[in-house]
Amino acid sequence: MKYDVTVIGSGPGGYVAAIRCAQLGMKTAIIEKYSVLGGTCLNVGCIPSKALLDSSEHFHNASHTFKEHGIELDNLKVNLGQMINRKSGVIKSNNDGIAYLMKKNKIDVYNGLGSFVSKNKIKVMPEAGEAQEIETEKVIIATGSKPTVLPFLPVDKERIITSTEALTLKEAPKHMIIIGGGVIGLELGSVYARLGSKITVVEFLDSIIPTMDRALGKELQRVLKKTLGFEFFFQHKVTGATNDGQNVKVTAENTKGETVTFEGDYCLVSIGRKPYTEGLNLEAAGVQMGERGMIAVNDHLETNVPGIFAIGDVVRGAMLAHKAEEEGVLVAEYMAGQKPHINYNLIPGVVYTWPEVAGVGFTEEQLKEQGRAYKTGSFPFKASGRAKASMDTDGFVKVLADKTTDEILGVHMIGPRIADLIAEAVVAMEFRASAEDIARMSHAHPTYTEAMKEACLAATENRAIHI
Ligand code: FAD
Ligand code: NAI
Repeated sequence: MKYDVTVIGSGPGGYVAAIRCAQLGMKTAIIEKYSVLGGTCLNVGCIPSKALLDSSEHFHNASHTFKEHGIELDNLKVNLGQMINRKSGVIKSNNDGIAYLMKKNKIDVYNGLGSFVSKNKIKVMPEAGEAQEIETEKVIIATGSKPTVLPFLPVDKERIITSTEALTLKEAPKHMIIIGGGVIGLELGSVYARLGSKITVVEFLDSIIPTMDRALGKELQRVLKKTLGFEFFFQHKVTGATNDGQNVKVTAENTKGETVTFEGDYCLVSIGRKPYTEGLNLEAAGVQMGERGMIAVNDHLETNVPGIFAIGDVVRGAMLAHKAEEEGVLVAEYMAGQKPHINYNLIPGVVYTWPEVAGVGFTEEQLKEQGRAYKTGSFPFKASGRAKASMDTDGFVKVLADKTTDEILGVHMIGPRIADLIAEAVVAMEFRASAEDIARMSHAHPTYTEAMKEACLAATENRAIHI
């Protein structure tokens, strides 16, 4: 077969790129090494983790806040097997959805490992059966990422695990030791803490979610400690872990050089992810690698080989599904002769803990580093009528705006349902709104979105109404 474009990898980057290519009239193929489509995000990432976060949140609310709402339940218990089954059902329904979209857009799907034979020839090796070769004018590599592991700390997938195994545990851990206080550690730690596990986070740096605005990590740390009993150990350098079949021991070195030992029954290693290019045989096409295992690309996401592009987790930038999707669309449109553009500074980051955490644009730390004159406006959810009604009063919205022009430069929030609220900030910033622009717009009452308006009022001339 001969194609205009062949996409390798069917995650959010790959399958979205394939659809956009097909929409633009290109004859398109997609190769996926697993038997199901959707990649990390759908099968072992975004979707299953959110399914378990939702289920565990229901349980936590039923056991902690229902009584206050006047709802009394007896004999409440968790059926973890059913929780995991529901999650699998959610994945399956989305797998089927992507398969339908491929069919609808007349995209040929090949199941098997894709590897370059040459610049324009790809071999597909299925798990069973014969290899086949397809010819293609252009290629989009969207092979994603895998968990980073420490060389001295072998993941046995039984008790010393990564996020993939943590999504299918047969029991809630008694005590889970989490290495890394980033997004995965805090989201999956929240799932099990809500189901009754004790959670200890061992973090190398001095803060959780250290790349987000520092105020967010500080508030999230306080709330996770208060509501779910998380314990945090910062500036601890993990030195090893052992599993005796029943229990794990994790050792770390603190800032005084002392060895500290943590004992539990599971250890989750969540210290980041690394680009995945194994088996692609990039040398056959002459594709050059960049730093830290990434494929090197230019501003159009084209590699050093004309006609071969790479997108998503396998290239530089945030490892996020929506970033991969935007890049997939950009490459398809660029190939079609259009002039697409991505504003990487306005790709929002969200952590789906409770309260949720989200940010877009520059952090306060980055503005300080740039020496930019800025002003801030904050509004706490404890002053929101809607948040009081739902008993979700932790957190705040913080707006950073240019001191002279009032243009919004960054919005950072922690609070109820702000994973959705951050979209307002993205839209405002894409249109280069000023804080006063948002402050003058009507926000429905009572909603959590009023916190955004109030923070903008506060940033404008300290004009917040409700605080
Ligand atoms: P992937 O989704 O990794 O897909 C790559 C695909 O390529 C895979 O299916 C792989 O099998 C296939 N492949 C690899 N090599 C070959 C080959 N040689 N031949 C054929 N196929 C191949 N991001 C968010 O934005 N929001 C979230 O809530 C979120 N939650 C997450 C939770 C967890 C637990 C994890 C692990 C990640 C989460 N992420 C989240 C990150 C998100 O999953 C990734 O950023 C996203 O999946 C990257 O998309 P991608 O298309 O680049 O690659
Ligand atoms: P992460 O980069 O978010 O966090 C890793 C944390 O581990 C950092 O705080 C880092 O300082 C710490 N760390 C690194 N090495 C360490 C060591 N040796 N000992 C102790 N701590 C150490 O990575 P994480 O949580 O593994 O997630 C990987 C990626 O997956 C994220 O960066 C994100 O791109 C994506 N993801 C996104 C989600 C979302 O959008 N909601 C959810 C889950 C994952």
